[in-house]
Amino acid sequence: MREDFFPFALEREMSIWENRVRYNLSESGVKPLTLVELFEGEEQALEALMHAELNYPQTNGLPKLREAIAAMYPGAGPENVVVTVGAAQANFTVLMSELDPGEEIAVMLPNYMQIYGVAKNYGLDVRTFSLREEDDWALDTSSLKQAITGKTKLVAVCNPNNPSGHILTAEERQAVIEAAADAGAWILSDEVYAGAERDERPVTPSLWGEYERVFAIGSLSKAYGLPGLRIGWVVAPPDAAERIWARQDYITISATMLANRIATYALQPAVRSKILSRTRKYIRRGLEHFSRWVQENSELLSFVSPQAAAIAFVKYERPINSGELVQRLIREHEAYVVPGDHFGLDQHLRISFGLPVDYLQEGLKRVLAALKEA
Ligand SMILES: Cc1ncc(COP(=O)(O)O)c(C=O)c1O
Repeated sequence: MREDFFPFALEREMSIWENRVRYNLSESGVKPLTLVELFEGEEQALEALMHAELNYPQTNGLPKLREAIAAMYPGAGPENVVVTVGAAQANFTVLMSELDPGEEIAVMLPNYMQIYGVAKNYGLDVRTFSLREEDDWALDTSSLKQAITGKTKLVAVCNPNNPSGHILTAEERQAVIEAAADAGAWILSDEVYAGAERDERPVTPSLWGEYERVFAIGSLSKAYGLPGLRIGWVVAPPDAAERIWARQDYITISATMLANRIATYALQPAVRSKILSRTRKYIRRGLEHFSRWVQENSELLSFVSPQAAAIAFVKYERPINSGELVQRLIREHEAYVVPGDHFGLDQHLRISFGLPVDYLQEGLKRVLAALKEA
């Protein structure tokens, strides 16, 4: 047993507080859908769901769901897709499948720390490269070159990025691909925020299809507002997808039948576009309010406006550790945001804004009060 287990502090803290506080501004997706909202105007489809046998689906996902997912990736077919219990399981399974302890992996920072933590706990040699806040979260290509060596087996990127909301430019994508190609490495591209871009930006294209050794990871949790469904996926070349599927049989057998059925419905083109426009509406409105809030308090707060995702990574000017500040926010103001500590960047808060405006404004008021008292 490993003595130095690296716990997933972000997920554990969110698990404890997000359903307990009055104002939860910690989630990175928009306000979740209800079944009633999802099936609005399609009550027959909802009724059909009520009659679905709660059997096991195929362990790699219902064929229709895999077809719907494949249709979003140029040149992919259902044989390229494995449906998982969230992107979390997808990321975990790729690491377990493709790497052995002692092997080298390069991870983008800042990042949702799952891949970093799993890699540490699995005994991988973890090297890191950065997006730089002082350059509006642009990729630091010299750190990329340093992180990737002849021994790198897998390069993990998060695009669009959590927590910064940065979307890799064409040049940055190319730099990642070239660095991985030089090492003969796989790329794990965690793309769960694709579809949650701000303004009229197009859906961030997958790295799938731009390099032959890509694991593209997707999910219904963020851009689709369905985190409780726990549906994610891996898109990979057929032999690699087969390897992921072989692990899946052991790990969870499958995601649930209900989740597979609902996901298949959600990814029908017409439903999908309705969901994505709802998401963008939340992001547009929320970001407007959020930006105004930061401007009005610019002596305390600053941020690089995110290009995607319903979260802002804000820097604050107060002499208090972010973890402690958030504990005070919970205790004294019944609100919760994610401390920068969980991304290795103290003096920051990750705050979600993809929420109904009144709720968001009250939550932000409480964050400000906690900051002013600090
Ligand atoms: C970058 C990233 N990948 C994966 C996940 C996990 O997503 P899922 O709910 O699909 O398991 C998250 C959740 O916050 C995330 O931010």
